[in-house]
Amino acid sequence: MTEPVDRVEVKVDLYSVFGNPIKHSRSPWIHTRFAEQTGQQLMYTAEEIAINDFDARVKSFFASGGKGLNVTVPFKENAWALAEARSAAAQLAGAVNTLYLNSEGLLFGDNTDGTGMLRDIVSNHGGNITGKQVLIVGAGGAVRGVLPRLLAEKPASISIVNRTASRAQTLVDQFSSTGKLLALEFDQLHGIFFDLIINGTSAGLAGELPPLPGSIVHSDTWCYDMIYGRGDTLFQSWARDNGALKALNGVGMLVEQAAESFYLWRRVRPETASVIAALRAELEGTQ
Ligand code: ATR
Repeated sequence: MTEPVDRVEVKVDLYSVFGNPIKHSRSPWIHTRFAEQTGQQLMYTAEEIAINDFDARVKSFFASGGKGLNVTVPFKENAWALAEARSAAAQLAGAVNTLYLNSEGLLFGDNTDGTGMLRDIVSNHGGNITGKQVLIVGAGGAVRGVLPRLLAEKPASISIVNRTASRAQTLVDQFSSTGKLLALEFDQLHGIFFDLIINGTSAGLAGELPPLPGSIVHSDTWCYDMIYGRGDTLFQSWARDNGALKALNGVGMLVEQAAESFYLWRRVRPETASVIAALRAELEGTQ
């Protein structure tokens, strides 16, 4: 005869991504793979947060024992303001995508987007930014998040071009003390070319392409789109059509920034190559 076994309550650490909209977030899928792969006991959910509810929801998440948050559009600046302490990367970027309570119990904000992009370009694809002529297209929150990390690689220069020229100039004014940075207008791009062109605009999400002349691409140029989709993005197709050496999208960056957050929370570094490959396959299958 067997004795009744007391129900064992397994406490699983809770993580979430907060954003709006959030329906299409791949973060739960990625972090679940990381957890399986590393044997970590955790649960990761995606929560749609009402625009005025962000601060209260973050506070109640941690007050009720939540371990860590990712923060996405449109709350990265709110997360920066709410954080009681910040990493140097987050401090400079003015945006936070990773929150947790530090050893002093303070709400700590970090930004793993820049590291995620760097890991993808340098470690995954064998690229190099040091000494290169870089063009960034766009001057919104996504660009602000990665700019300090790119400048830290000491490129020869970073030019920023944006539909609203004043936003490019604002970024240049803010960061020019940390490297050679200049704001350009689209019609100033004729006759020059770049080693690395990063599309940090959201134009592709609306089926649009910034008005870039094909002449800025040469046969060694790398093109990197921070967004991703099923198959090539419009910017990737543009890069290929103009003879770029590499035309990459943001799938690798997405997985790498997640891996960096996972490491900050768990002090365990997941393996990313298989997750990137699986996510690519998953996206190819999505209609
Ligand atoms: P995010 O947080 O995604 O960066 P954002 O701060 O709204 O969002 O920035 C979006 C970026 O994409 C901006 O650089 C924007 O240009 P503007 O500053 O002129 O708005 C750029 N963008 C969006 N749609 C675009 C389009 N159709 N053509 C060119 N640039 C576009």
